[in-house]
Amino acid sequence: MTDDHADLLHDLETQGWALADDLLPAALTMRLSLASRQAWRQGLFKPAQIGAPGQPLLAPGIRGDEIHWLERDSTAPGWAEFQFWAAGLQQQLNRYFFIGLRRAEFHFARYDSGHGYKKHMDQHRGQPHRRISLVLYLNRRWTDTNGGELCLYAPTDHKQEIKRIQPRFGRIVVFRSDLIPHAVLPASRQRWSLTGWFRSDEALLGNYPVAPASNDSPFPGSTPSGAAA
Ligand code: OGA
Ligand code: MN
Repeated sequence: MTDDHADLLHDLETQGWALADDLLPAALTMRLSLASRQAWRQGLFKPAQIGAPGQPLLAPGIRGDEIHWLERDSTAPGWAEFQFWAAGLQQQLNRYFFIGLRRAEFHFARYDSGHGYKKHMDQHRGQPHRRISLVLYLNRRWTDTNGGELCLYAPTDHKQEIKRIQPRFGRIVVFRSDLIPHAVLPASRQRWSLTGWFRSDEALLGNYPVAPASNDSPFPGSTPSGAAA
C-alpha cells in the first residue's frame, strides 16, 4: 500500500495528534453511521466504564457515553471494510514510527446530549499497550452550536488547551494515547463515533484473535490463516 497518509503521519509525529476530513469514502462512513444506530436499536450499547482493565468503575459524571465493542467478525455494515482500512493505517504507522502495533480495538460510542468525558489520558498507568487513539465521527449536519468538541491539551502542560475539534461527519482524529490529555465537551444533541486504539500487545483469549507472531498482517481475519478459518 502506498503512503497515502503522509500528512497524517507527519502531523502525528510533530504534534502528537492529527486531523483529517476525507480519509474514508463518504459511503463507508455512512454505512458505519447506520451500523451504530442499528446496534443501538438492538440494545447492544452499555454504559462505558473508566479505570484500568480489572478495575472498572462506572462514573457517569466523568465519562457519560455508552459503547458497543465491535468483535472482529461482527457483520455490522461497513465494519469489515473499515478494519481493512485500519489495517493499512496500522501498517503505515508501524513503518513510520517502528512502534510494533499488533492489533486494533474499536467501539461505537454514543453520548446523550449533556454528557461528556472529563480530561483524561487513554493509556492507563502500568498498561502501556494502547499506543495510538483514533476517533471517526458519525454525526451528520453537526453545527458550530452543537458543542461536543474534542479538546486536546498540551503534553507538557495539561491545563493548556491546544486544539478544539468539532465531531463532524467523516472527520478522523488520531493522537498519541500516552501523550495527549483530552476531554469531550457536552453536546446539545446525541454524539456518535467509532473510537478505538492501535495496540502493541496481543489479544486476550476469546476476544480479539491475534495473528501468529510471524504474520505481518494485523488482522488475521483478512488472511487465509486467520483464526476464523
Ligand atoms: C475516548 C475519547 C474522544 C471523542 O473515548 O476515550 O476520548 O472525541 N473519545 O469521542
Ligand atoms: Mn480518550
